[in-house]
Amino acid sequence: MQKLVFLTGAGISAESGITTFRDSGGLWEKYPVMKVASIEGYEADPSLVIQFYNERRRQLAGVQPNDAHHLVAALEDRYEVTVVTQNVDDLHERTGSSHIIHLHGELMKATSTYRPNDPEQVVTLPSHDADIKMGDRARDGSQLRPFIVWFGEAVPMIEPAADAVQQADILVIIGTSLNVYPAAGLIHYARPGCRIFLIDPKPANVAESLGVHIIAKGASEGMKELCELLK
Ligand code: OAD
Repeated sequence: MQKLVFLTGAGISAESGITTFRDSGGLWEKYPVMKVASIEGYEADPSLVIQFYNERRRQLAGVQPNDAHHLVAALEDRYEVTVVTQNVDDLHERTGSSHIIHLHGELMKATSTYRPNDPEQVVTLPSHDADIKMGDRARDGSQLRPFIVWFGEAVPMIEPAADAVQQADILVIIGTSLNVYPAAGLIHYARPGCRIFLIDPKPANVAESLGVHIIAKGASEGMKELCELLK
Protein backbone atom coordinates (compact mmCIF):
# COMPACT_ATOMS: atom_id res chain seq x y z
CA MET A 1 0.00 0.00 0.00
CA GLN A 2 1.19 3.52 -0.76
CA LYS A 3 1.95 5.80 2.15
CA LEU A 4 -0.27 8.87 2.42
CA VAL A 5 0.57 11.53 4.99
CA PHE A 6 -1.73 14.40 5.91
CA LEU A 7 -0.44 17.56 7.57
CA THR A 8 -3.46 19.34 8.98
CA GLY A 9 -3.98 22.72 10.65
CA ALA A 10 -6.81 24.75 12.10
CA GLY A 11 -8.46 25.10 8.67
CA ILE A 12 -9.60 21.46 8.62
CA SER A 13 -11.65 22.07 11.75
CA ALA A 14 -12.99 25.48 10.67
CA GLU A 15 -16.09 23.95 9.03
CA SER A 16 -16.83 22.20 12.34
CA GLY A 17 -17.06 25.63 13.97
CA ILE A 18 -13.64 25.87 15.63
CA THR A 19 -12.07 29.28 15.10
CA THR A 20 -8.71 29.36 13.34
CA PHE A 21 -5.80 31.41 14.74
CA ARG A 22 -4.64 33.85 12.08
CA ASP A 23 -7.63 34.41 9.78
CA SER A 24 -9.49 37.66 10.33
CA GLY A 25 -11.63 37.12 13.44
CA GLY A 26 -9.15 34.39 14.46
CA LEU A 27 -8.31 33.51 18.05
CA TRP A 28 -5.04 35.44 18.15
CA GLU A 29 -6.92 38.66 17.34
CA LYS A 30 -9.02 38.23 20.47
CA TYR A 31 -6.39 36.84 22.83
CA PRO A 32 -2.73 37.94 22.93
CA VAL A 33 -0.96 34.76 21.83
CA MET A 34 2.05 35.22 24.10
CA LYS A 35 -0.23 35.61 27.14
CA VAL A 36 -2.29 32.47 26.59
CA ALA A 37 -0.11 30.18 24.50
CA SER A 38 3.48 30.58 25.63
CA ILE A 39 5.41 29.10 28.52
CA GLU A 40 6.20 32.64 29.70
CA GLY A 41 2.47 33.45 29.70
CA TYR A 42 1.73 30.34 31.76
CA GLU A 43 4.45 31.13 34.26
CA ALA A 44 3.17 34.71 34.59
CA ASP A 45 -0.53 33.83 34.95
CA PRO A 46 -1.32 30.10 35.10
CA SER A 47 -4.95 30.71 35.99
CA LEU A 48 -5.60 32.80 32.85
CA VAL A 49 -3.97 30.19 30.61
CA ILE A 50 -5.80 27.27 32.24
CA GLN A 51 -9.07 29.16 31.82
CA PHE A 52 -8.33 29.87 28.14
CA TYR A 53 -7.89 26.14 27.44
CA ASN A 54 -10.93 25.25 29.56
CA GLU A 55 -12.94 27.44 27.18
CA ARG A 56 -11.41 25.75 24.14
CA ARG A 57 -12.28 22.34 25.61
CA ARG A 58 -15.89 23.37 26.28
CA GLN A 59 -16.17 24.58 22.69
CA LEU A 60 -14.77 21.27 21.44
CA ALA A 61 -17.43 19.32 23.36
CA GLY A 62 -20.12 21.05 21.28
CA VAL A 63 -18.74 20.45 17.77
CA GLN A 64 -18.59 17.50 15.38
CA PRO A 65 -16.03 16.35 12.82
CA ASN A 66 -16.83 17.46 9.25
CA ASP A 67 -16.66 15.73 5.85
CA ALA A 68 -12.95 16.48 5.54
CA HIS A 69 -12.10 14.56 8.75
CA HIS A 70 -14.33 11.69 7.57
CA LEU A 71 -12.71 11.54 4.13
CA VAL A 72 -9.21 11.54 5.67
CA ALA A 73 -10.20 8.52 7.77
CA ALA A 74 -11.91 6.76 4.83
CA LEU A 75 -8.71 6.82 2.76
CA GLU A 76 -7.32 4.18 5.13
CA ASP A 77 -9.16 1.66 2.90
CA ARG A 78 -6.72 2.38 0.10
CA TYR A 79 -3.57 3.82 1.70
CA GLU A 80 -1.38 3.50 4.72
CA VAL A 81 -2.39 6.83 6.25
CA THR A 82 -0.63 8.92 8.89
CA VAL A 83 -2.21 12.13 10.09
CA VAL A 84 0.23 14.72 11.38
CA THR A 85 -1.83 17.48 12.94
CA GLN A 86 -1.07 20.83 14.52
CA ASN A 87 -4.57 20.78 15.97
CA VAL A 88 -5.19 20.05 19.62
CA ASP A 89 -8.79 18.98 19.00
CA ASP A 90 -9.78 15.31 18.80
CA LEU A 91 -11.81 15.47 15.58
CA HIS A 92 -9.45 13.14 13.67
CA GLU A 93 -9.76 10.61 16.50
CA ARG A 94 -13.54 10.86 16.45
CA THR A 95 -13.71 9.87 12.77
CA GLY A 96 -11.54 6.83 13.36
CA SER A 97 -8.16 7.80 11.90
CA SER A 98 -5.77 5.29 13.41
CA HIS A 99 -2.31 6.86 13.14
CA ILE A 100 -2.37 10.42 14.46
CA ILE A 101 0.64 12.47 15.51
CA HIS A 102 -0.31 15.57 17.49
CA LEU A 103 2.52 18.08 17.12
CA HIS A 104 1.07 20.69 19.47
CA GLY A 105 -0.50 18.49 22.14
CA GLU A 106 -4.07 17.45 22.90
CA LEU A 107 -6.83 19.46 24.49
CA MET A 108 -8.41 16.41 26.11
CA LYS A 109 -5.21 15.61 28.00
CA ALA A 110 -3.46 17.24 30.96
CA THR A 111 0.02 16.94 32.37
CA SER A 112 2.50 18.08 34.99
CA THR A 113 3.83 21.62 35.17
CA TYR A 114 7.28 20.25 36.08
CA ARG A 115 7.59 17.49 33.50
CA PRO A 116 5.03 18.12 30.75
CA ASN A 117 6.47 15.59 28.30
CA ASP A 118 6.88 12.71 30.74
CA PRO A 119 4.34 10.09 29.53
CA GLU A 120 3.83 8.99 33.16
CA GLN A 121 2.38 12.41 33.92
CA VAL A 122 -0.04 12.67 31.02
CA VAL A 123 -3.68 11.94 31.86
CA THR A 124 -6.84 11.95 29.74
CA LEU A 125 -9.51 14.33 31.01
CA PRO A 126 -13.09 13.10 31.39
CA SER A 127 -15.41 14.07 28.53
CA HIS A 128 -17.79 15.78 30.97
CA ASP A 129 -16.67 18.35 33.51
CA ALA A 130 -13.22 18.43 31.89
CA ASP A 131 -12.15 21.80 33.30
CA ILE A 132 -8.71 21.98 34.90
CA LYS A 133 -8.80 23.99 38.13
CA MET A 134 -6.07 25.79 40.00
CA GLY A 135 -5.03 23.39 42.75
CA ASP A 136 -5.61 20.22 40.66
CA ARG A 137 -2.46 18.14 40.98
CA ALA A 138 -0.51 16.06 38.47
CA ARG A 139 0.88 12.69 39.64
CA ASP A 140 4.14 14.37 40.67
CA GLY A 141 2.30 16.87 42.86
CA SER A 142 2.74 19.90 40.57
CA GLN A 143 -0.14 21.99 39.24
CA LEU A 144 -2.01 20.08 36.50
CA ARG A 145 -1.68 21.96 33.20
CA PRO A 146 -3.05 21.57 29.69
CA PHE A 147 -1.11 19.06 27.55
CA ILE A 148 -0.36 21.71 24.94
CA VAL A 149 2.96 22.58 23.32
CA TRP A 150 3.29 26.30 23.92
CA PHE A 151 5.50 28.80 22.16
CA GLY A 152 8.91 28.57 23.80
CA GLU A 153 8.60 24.80 24.38
CA ALA A 154 10.17 21.81 22.64
CA VAL A 155 8.10 19.91 20.05
CA PRO A 156 8.90 16.28 20.90
CA MET A 157 6.66 14.79 18.18
CA ILE A 158 8.48 16.55 15.35
CA GLU A 159 10.85 13.61 14.83
CA PRO A 160 8.20 10.93 14.25
CA ALA A 161 6.36 13.46 12.07
CA ALA A 162 9.47 14.10 9.95
CA ASP A 163 10.03 10.33 9.61
CA ALA A 164 6.47 9.87 8.38
CA VAL A 165 6.77 12.69 5.83
CA GLN A 166 10.11 11.34 4.61
CA GLN A 167 8.49 8.00 3.80
CA ALA A 168 5.37 9.46 2.17
CA ASP A 169 4.41 8.68 -1.42
CA ILE A 170 1.74 11.38 -1.19
CA LEU A 171 1.66 14.39 1.17
CA VAL A 172 -1.56 16.35 1.61
CA ILE A 173 -1.46 19.63 3.53
CA ILE A 174 -4.83 21.00 4.68
CA GLY A 175 -5.79 24.29 6.30
CA THR A 176 -2.57 25.65 7.70
CA SER A 177 -0.95 29.04 7.19
CA LEU A 178 2.46 27.32 7.47
CA ASN A 179 3.54 30.07 9.84
CA VAL A 180 4.64 28.04 12.83
CA TYR A 181 7.91 26.11 12.91
CA PRO A 182 9.03 23.39 13.10
CA ALA A 183 5.68 22.11 11.69
CA ALA A 184 5.88 24.41 8.66
CA GLY A 185 9.26 22.94 7.72
CA LEU A 186 7.92 19.39 7.40
CA ILE A 187 7.12 19.86 3.69
CA HIS A 188 10.87 19.94 3.05
CA TYR A 189 11.20 16.37 4.31
CA ALA A 190 9.18 15.05 1.38
CA ARG A 191 11.41 12.97 -0.87
CA PRO A 192 11.77 13.72 -4.58
CA GLY A 193 8.88 12.08 -6.38
CA CYS A 194 6.44 12.50 -3.49
CA ARG A 195 3.17 14.00 -4.81
CA ILE A 196 2.24 17.05 -2.74
CA PHE A 197 -1.22 18.62 -2.50
CA LEU A 198 -2.27 21.74 -0.60
CA ILE A 199 -5.95 22.27 0.24
CA ASP A 200 -6.76 25.76 1.54
CA PRO A 201 -9.07 28.54 0.32
CA LYS A 202 -6.19 30.98 0.86
CA PRO A 203 -3.19 28.75 0.22
CA ALA A 204 0.09 29.68 1.86
CA ASN A 205 3.06 30.39 -0.40
CA VAL A 206 5.10 27.29 -1.06
CA ALA A 207 8.25 27.02 -3.14
CA GLU A 208 7.39 26.44 -6.80
CA SER A 209 10.21 23.92 -7.02
CA LEU A 210 8.22 21.56 -4.80
CA GLY A 211 5.61 21.17 -7.56
CA VAL A 212 2.69 21.40 -5.14
CA HIS A 213 -0.77 20.79 -6.62
CA ILE A 214 -2.91 23.52 -5.08
CA ILE A 215 -6.61 22.97 -4.43
CA ALA A 216 -7.86 26.43 -3.44
CA LYS A 217 -11.03 25.27 -1.68
CA GLY A 218 -12.36 24.68 1.81
CA ALA A 219 -11.33 21.44 3.49
CA SER A 220 -14.44 19.35 2.70
CA GLU A 221 -14.78 20.40 -0.95
CA GLY A 222 -11.02 20.16 -1.35
CA MET A 223 -10.94 16.63 0.08
CA LYS A 224 -13.69 15.55 -2.34
CA GLU A 225 -11.61 16.89 -5.22
CA LEU A 226 -8.51 15.15 -3.88
CA CYS A 227 -10.35 11.81 -3.67
CA GLU A 228 -11.34 12.19 -7.36
CA LEU A 229 -7.75 13.02 -8.32
CA LEU A 230 -6.39 10.00 -6.46
CA LYS A 231 -8.80 7.54 -8.12
P1 OAD B 1 -3.80 29.38 11.17
O1 OAD B 1 -4.96 30.06 11.81
O2 OAD B 1 -2.48 30.06 11.18
O3 OAD B 1 -4.15 29.10 9.63
C1 OAD B 1 -5.40 28.57 9.28
C2 OAD B 1 -5.40 28.22 7.82
O4 OAD B 1 -6.64 27.59 7.53
C3 OAD B 1 -5.28 29.42 6.87
O5 OAD B 1 -4.33 29.14 5.85
C4 OAD B 1 -6.68 29.54 6.29
O6 OAD B 1 -6.69 30.04 4.94
C5 OAD B 1 -7.16 28.10 6.32
N1 OAD B 1 -8.61 27.91 6.33
C6 OAD B 1 -9.59 28.71 6.80
N2 OAD B 1 -10.79 28.17 6.60
C7 OAD B 1 -10.59 26.98 5.99
C8 OAD B 1 -11.43 25.93 5.51
N3 OAD B 1 -12.75 25.98 5.61
N4 OAD B 1 -10.86 24.85 4.93
C9 OAD B 1 -9.50 24.77 4.80
N5 OAD B 1 -8.67 25.71 5.22
C10 OAD B 1 -9.19 26.81 5.82
O7 OAD B 1 -3.72 27.92 11.80
P2 OAD B 1 -2.51 26.87 11.81
O8 OAD B 1 -1.67 27.01 10.59
O9 OAD B 1 -3.09 25.54 12.13
O10 OAD B 1 -0.23 26.48 17.79
O11 OAD B 1 -1.70 27.40 13.06
C11 OAD B 1 -0.56 26.69 13.47
C12 OAD B 1 -0.36 26.82 14.96
O12 OAD B 1 -0.41 28.20 15.33
C13 OAD B 1 -1.47 26.21 15.79
O13 OAD B 1 -1.31 24.82 15.96
C14 OAD B 1 -1.38 26.94 17.08
C15 OAD B 1 -1.20 28.33 16.55
O14 OAD B 1 -0.52 29.24 17.34
C16 OAD B 1 -0.15 26.64 19.13
O15 OAD B 1 -1.01 27.16 19.80
C17 OAD B 1 1.11 26.10 19.73
